Amino acid sequence: MVKILVIHGPNLNLLGKRQPKVYGKFTLKEIDSKLKKLAGKEKVSIKFLQSSHEGEIVEAIGSARNSFDALLINPAAYTHTSVAIRDAVEAVRVPTVEVHLSNIYAREEFRHTSLIAPVAYGQVCGFGIDSYLLGLRAAIKLAKSKRKSK
Ligand code: DQA
Repeated sequence: MVKILVIHGPNLNLLGKRQPKVYGKFTLKEIDSKLKKLAGKEKVSIKFLQSSHEGEIVEAIGSARNSFDALLINPAAYTHTSVAIRDAVEAVRVPTVEVHLSNIYAREEFRHTSLIAPVAYGQVCGFGIDSYLLGLRAAIKLAKSKRKSK
């Protein structure tokens, strides 16, 4: 069975209460349960990690190599700062889809740069919870074609 790892970065545990006009009203639990439902429909296995610690995220990516077929990541604030997460994604060579709830390009200038995007397969941003659902569909497709080519 195809396996997907979903990683949520810092402060995403506060969704629901955190700037609902920017990030929407869904809690992280609700997002995960929608992703789980879609994964079930597509018959893929899905695991979740939320961490506000850069090193923990780097380690999870590093150990994904032999256990997951694709990664779906919202690196949150680390998107704009973390060379370590970028290097982990590049090193592990597991197809990665980057997602953001908000349109990072329509916000403050410091959010316009993603250090992750150049090493991700692609990026979905600006669609709220649908960014995750669209991103998961893309990750499943990548994971399935990776399995076929083995
Ligand atoms: C975010 C956008 C980031 O700029 C921000 O730091 C976040 C959330 C998003 O999902 O829109 O924490 O990744």
